Parts: sequence; C-alpha cells; structure tokens
Amino acid sequence: MRIGILTGGGDCPGLNAVIRGIVRKGINQYGHEFVGFRHGWAGVLKNEAVELTNAATRGILHRGGTILGSSRTNPYKVEGGVDLVREAMRERGLNALIPIGGEDTLGVARKLVDEGIPVVGVPKTIDNDLAGTDFTFGFQTAVQIATDAIDRLHTTAESHNRVIVVEVMGRHAGWIAAYSGLAGGADVVLVPERPFDIDEVCERLRRRHALGRNFSIVVVAEGATPKDGTLHSEFEAKDAFGHVRLGGIAIELEREIEQRTGFEARMTILGHVQRGGTPCAYDRVLGSRFGVEAIDAVSEGDYGKMVALRGTEIVRVPLSEALAEPKLLAPKVFETAEVFFG
Ligand code: F6P
Repeated sequence: MRIGILTGGGDCPGLNAVIRGIVRKGINQYGHEFVGFRHGWAGVLKNEAVELTNAATRGILHRGGTILGSSRTNPYKVEGGVDLVREAMRERGLNALIPIGGEDTLGVARKLVDEGIPVVGVPKTIDNDLAGTDFTFGFQTAVQIATDAIDRLHTTAESHNRVIVVEVMGRHAGWIAAYSGLAGGADVVLVPERPFDIDEVCERLRRRHALGRNFSIVVVAEGATPKDGTLHSEFEAKDAFGHVRLGGIAIELEREIEQRTGFEARMTILGHVQRGGTPCAYDRVLGSRFGVEAIDAVSEGDYGKMVALRGTEIVRVPLSEALAEPKLLAPKVFETAEVFFG
C-alpha cells in the first residue's frame, strides 16, 4: 500500500514518535510505502509532500515538534477542498491517509471518511481534552514543563513575598492546570470547568497569608473564566476552525489580586514553551504505540477509526466517538488538587 501521513493543528511533543512508529512497522512488516504531507491539510491541498522512508524517520524519536510541519488549515473552508484531497491522493497513488491531530484535524478526517476516503486517525493534543482516549501524547510533557516552571516560580515568590499567577494552556479544559498545580503544590488552581469568584480567590490568599505563609502560587488555565464574567483573551482573531486565540487571563488576575489584597503580585504566561522541546519518555512510548496500532488498522482496512488509550491498552474507537464532546477535567482530579489549596 501507499499511505499518506500528515500532522495538523498545534504541534505536540511525541508527533515524531508516531510518524516513526507508522513508518517503521509499515515498511518492515507490511512492505508499505509512505509520503508525508507538509504542514497538515495545507500540504494535502497543495500536494506538497516528501517520501517517508526508514532513513528519513531515523533519529527523530527524541525531537519535539513535527518533521512534517503543521498548520490549522481546514480543507472544508477552501473551495473544492475535498476534490483537492482526492486529487493529491490520486496523483501520489495513495490508498489511505493517517492524519495525526486534535479535534479539528480529526473532524476533517471523519468527514472525509463519510465521503469514502479511507482514513485512520491518531489523536494528539497537549490539552488532553479529546474524548475516546484516556490520554493523548504531549500532555505529560506539557505538565512536566509547567511543573518545572512552578517549582522555579515558587522560590522567587518566596524570596519576594509575592503572589505569582502562572497561566498554562489547555483551551477549554483544565487538565494541564490541575495536573501541574497538583504536582507543583499550587495554592489555588483555576480551571474552565469551575468558573471562579475573584473574592473567594483573594479571601483564600488572605487566609493563607494570615497563617504566616507570605507567598502564594496561583495556577490558572488559559480558558478559566470568572463566575460573573466572560472568557478573557488578549486576542480577537479566530482560526480556520472558528477557535478564538486564548491567553492573558493571568494579566487580569495579577492586577485584581494586587489591588484587592495589597499583596504584591506577578504573572507568568507559559505559552508555547509548554509545547516545545523534547518529549518525555511517556509521550515517546504512547506515540510509538499509537503509530504502530494505526498502521495495523490501515493494513487491516479498519477505516473510520482512531487509535486510543483505554486504561493501559491501545484500542481503536470510531472517529465519531472522539469528536462527540471535549473531555473535560475529571472532577475527582480537581477535588484532589483542592485538598492542598491554601
Ligand atoms: O490545543 C493546543 C494548544 O496549545 C492550546 O492549549 C492553545 O490554546 C492553542 O493550542 C494555541 O494554539 P496556537 O498554536 O495557534 O497559538
């Protein structure tokens, strides 16, 4: 078979492990051939691709980002987009596609399946908010990066008697915030799933300081919202999938906390640092397992599926299952983080 691979949406540590897994098993065990489209669906529309061989995918396991490049291009927003996908597949002699991506990339994949294009998806996102899989690769790396940052911010917060507000990614889910807050010993964690009351946040900080602690760490997810307010973003632009660019709630929190409590406050927005660099071992392993399962699924003609982690097993689930609803933070995880607040 000849198979096309692409990586779409925000990049994510572990993408190269998936590509390597697909190609290594696909060539060595099944004798398939592979092309990698450049920059997600954009490369499919422009038919811009490279041959993916064992040699081309050697030495990439530990590398962050994606050797193929990525984009947030949506073929359904481009006139004749689906025809261009078919054309690229015909010209390259492809029998199937393996898109590796989040909700948006896999949403396109699902529609293409409905149009008769053979596709098997691989879930990817640092946000861990995709339904159908217990974890996505990239999440553990992002949590580790955020935790390392919180550890560093702890020592400077302590030296200066400050409240430090750390903003992490996660879009509309609080997975990264709750995990890194728990691992980093945050005093307050604010997540989108639980709209916050700024008075309560300040009261908690006052109580903590009254007990003799002279610094605090507040971890806030970029998508967290105040109870009586709306989503805060410094940006207005939307991407091709209609998502608003998030970021900046920490700026507002820094100001509010300082004004209301009189404690000196500083904020840090971790941003894309959380997505960059070396994937941790867990994400390399999960990515490799996903890649190997994806090529097995394609080889068996088991299309319309997404590979997924359920417990400790790698399984295949219908793409539609992954796209039903975003997987929000499990309440129990937040409640555990809450035990250590203040
Ligand atoms: O979905 C992954 C993610 O990193 C989100 O956490 C974040 O909101 C978004 O992507 C940022 O996207 P961009 O790369 O377009 O800035």
